[in-house]
Amino acid sequence: MRFEPAGPLRGELIAPPDKSISHRAALLAAMSGEPVAIHNYLDSADTNATLRAVRSLGAVVESRPDELLVRGTGLRNPAEVTGAIDVGNAGTLMRLLPGWLAAQPGGVWRIDGDDSIRRRPVDRIAEPLERMGARIEAREERFAPFTIAGAALRGIDYELPVASAQVKSCVLLAGLTADERTTVREHAPSRDHTERLLLRAGVPVSRAGGAVSITGVDELELDEIRVPGDVSSAAFALAAAVLVPRSRVTVRGAGVNWTRTGFLRVLGRMGAEVEGELEAPNTESDLEPVSDITVRAGALRGTVVEPTEVPLAIDELPLIALLGCFAEGRTEVRGAGELRFKESDRIASVVAGLRGLGAEIEATSEGFVVSGTGGLRGGRLESRGDHRLAMLGAIAGLASREGVEVLGMEAAAVSYPGFSDDLARLTAR
Ligand code: S3P
Repeated sequence: MRFEPAGPLRGELIAPPDKSISHRAALLAAMSGEPVAIHNYLDSADTNATLRAVRSLGAVVESRPDELLVRGTGLRNPAEVTGAIDVGNAGTLMRLLPGWLAAQPGGVWRIDGDDSIRRRPVDRIAEPLERMGARIEAREERFAPFTIAGAALRGIDYELPVASAQVKSCVLLAGLTADERTTVREHAPSRDHTERLLLRAGVPVSRAGGAVSITGVDELELDEIRVPGDVSSAAFALAAAVLVPRSRVTVRGAGVNWTRTGFLRVLGRMGAEVEGELEAPNTESDLEPVSDITVRAGALRGTVVEPTEVPLAIDELPLIALLGCFAEGRTEVRGAGELRFKESDRIASVVAGLRGLGAEIEATSEGFVVSGTGGLRGGRLESRGDHRLAMLGAIAGLASREGVEVLGMEAAAVSYPGFSDDLARLTAR
């Protein structure tokens, strides 16, 4: 699919529902004893894989006009599944679901997914789950397909080797039925949607100085979950509006939990005008705040994204590389080795993808360095089956001099099926 250089982007966009929160909503609803209504659940390949997974485990999911109604199995009753649970391309599902299943004494489940999922490590969740008492057998001890043999778990005190909301969430879900307190410590904060939802579900969650602790419960108490708009999906249109001269775009209803808005803070530092009621950093809440966000095109200067900011902007780092191409000076992302374990190796794929469009960008072991040249020629970009790379190519095309052909644009459906239509609407005259 080709994306030609565009005139100004103008207008409004409703942010598609948040992918991270949709996965968590479906999982926690499936783990609840009482029915849970989920509003604004994301209809995408990834989050549909989660609905299929919880159905196979015995939850009943009814699609109603304005909501999904999930009748869960309760914390302790997921069903046996014949064959493997297929997580498709969804890393969040692959890493969170085992937390629940590991806590089921006598239960055995197998998990598998697509080619990309089979290259993404699960030893990071296997290690803490085994310390809690479960058994995980993975291909080459690291990859899907893998088997989880559940057990009565004991609580642990676990320090995350790298900040990862997926691993943190997995351990917390496993801790829900553990016999003692479970604590997860992280060096830098990562998205805290699981903690917020668990608090809302009546779980005793305490947070202090980079540690989150929970104690076991009998049941989750949730009746309704409202999924906000996905600021990571919205980030593509916002970046386009910053890059294409004379643009002005408003995204409505974006989730602005401070653990997700690192990208907007970096945008501001690079010189873009960002308007919105962003949640203040370090806020502890059980709510997911929502705001409209407006940005305008403007001159950009290079910046350094430090390791502690990385988890707060992890999925938007490819866009920061693109913005760096248009900025004055140098833009560097440090301490982002985690990018190598995403839907593609996002250090290699972003560097190769943007270089192919004329960017001056170098990979480092833990990130990349971009020399701004004030623009981008254009050309061809291969998505490598990575949704965020496909959408990056599209935005690069709008802002480029010659346009970009994206090979494998269909990957966008993993998180944002309406992406190309939304973009077309914002660029229409
Ligand atoms: C996610 C956490 C992030 C992010 C991913 C979704 C989540 O991964 O990259 O797209 O929903 O918890 P890590 O926390 O493993 O870095």
